[in-house]
Amino acid sequence: MVVAAPGHAGAVTAQPTDDAPPTPERGATITPYRDGPLIVRGDFRLVGDDGVEIDPGRDTVALCRCGKSGIKPFCDGTHKRAGFSAPSAPSRPRPAAHLAGGTGTGEPG
Ligand code: FES
Repeated sequence: MVVAAPGHAGAVTAQPTDDAPPTPERGATITPYRDGPLIVRGDFRLVGDDGVEIDPGRDTVALCRCGKSGIKPFCDGTHKRAGFSAPSAPSRPRPAAHLAGGTGTGEPG
């Protein structure tokens, strides 16, 4: 998956695909849509946990966050039939967001 860092409410900014520091003009924007997928726009790479790049097939992609898609990691619209419900932005900060040195990447532990 993309490596993401905290951004403004409702979106996170992903790291660019080279060594240049992320800026608002570079990188990707990931928008969690209410009751729907994560929409990724911009300059990003999609990489599986085995390190193999996944061809997104387009510049803007919808990543499943309901877990019901038949074409994971992409959204296929099944979230609507499944009645998936989730807000766009969290209603409260992440529990560890206040810890110094936290990466905010969401990397599994
Ligand atoms: S978010 Fe669309 S199928 Fe899961």
